[in-house]
Amino acid sequence: MIIVALIWAVVVGLCCLLWLAVGIRRRQPGEPTVENGLIPYLGCALQFGANPLQFLHSRQKKYGHIFTCKIAGQYIHFLCDPFSYHSVIRQGRHLDWRKFHFATSVKAFGHDSFDPRHGHTTENLHQTFLKTLQGEALPSLIETMMAHLQDVMLRSDTLSPSKDQWEVDGIFAFCYKVMFESGYLTLFGKELGEDKCQARQAAQKALVLNALENFKEFDKIFPALVAGLPIHVFKSAYSARENLAKTMHAEKLSKRENVSDLISMRMILNDSLSTFNDVSKARTHVALLWASQANTLPATFWSLFYMIRYADKSLSPCS
Ligand code: HEM
Repeated sequence: MIIVALIWAVVVGLCCLLWLAVGIRRRQPGEPTVENGLIPYLGCALQFGANPLQFLHSRQKKYGHIFTCKIAGQYIHFLCDPFSYHSVIRQGRHLDWRKFHFATSVKAFGHDSFDPRHGHTTENLHQTFLKTLQGEALPSLIETMMAHLQDVMLRSDTLSPSKDQWEVDGIFAFCYKVMFESGYLTLFGKELGEDKCQARQAAQKALVLNALENFKEFDKIFPALVAGLPIHVFKSAYSARENLAKTMHAEKLSKRENVSDLISMRMILNDSLSTFNDVSKARTHVALLWASQANTLPATFWSLFYMIRYADKSLSPCS
């Protein structure tokens, strides 16, 4: 019995030594500080997944603005100084965004790969974005977004019986609700078009706000998904993502009016150039909903916050 235990101890010890020798990356000259974490393979994944913001703040305090952490088998560089982003973006030619995009999207949203080399589609996804979100396509997209913003903010009194009754909300909740609803309707159109019935409009608004709750639940764990943790670890975020996907099946989307060129084109290309099944197709639309909202919502909040906070120009952060 003692001999077996000793053999096990030696094997475990050897494995630990092997891990220390080959499984740990050491900082090379000119590289940022590296944190390997204590658990083989996972590295810092558990701490990062539990609270990404707190994790990044504590590492920033310890190592400075730039550092590297091992997370689920990958070494990820973090850059916490917003004034350095520009220098990184300028090196775009040397960074393979596509490789990261394709892999991350599959991990986070659960659809089949968009990388033509994987054989599920022959579509050039980037071209679709160029055609439907820039240049000639942009003015009509802006016009639709503006109309929805006006509608959501100014005509919300149609839902309240008394016009004297103000709806009161915090700036954060206000920005999230207004921008999400307007952006959602701009991309995915309206189920009931211009139906004037108040009850049906209220029901439609409730559906969009329900989508917002699902979006927020899913968005919360997005950094952990990018880091490589499987979505099944996060039960409520998984069902939130699937709830969003359920509303984006082709038969549901085809009933909506004024669907954007982007989503219409994606539906056609999903059907004609890919072998994605219905669930995978719906999940690609969730990916676009996320891409269109995840940066927009916080950016709107912070812009409005700073505008109100520094309304007096002499206090503006630039002066
Ligand atoms: C403040 C708002 C936004 C910010 C800061 C932002 C930022 C970004 C960044 C940094 C990327 C990655 C670029 C790259 O990989 O080269 C990206 C990609 C993308 N964004 Fe935004 N975005 C915003 C709003 C939007 C909106 C409103 C949409 C509407 C549809 C959108 C759709 C996309 C799409 C489709 C991609 C992927 C592009 C591609 O792969 O070619 N974004 N965004």
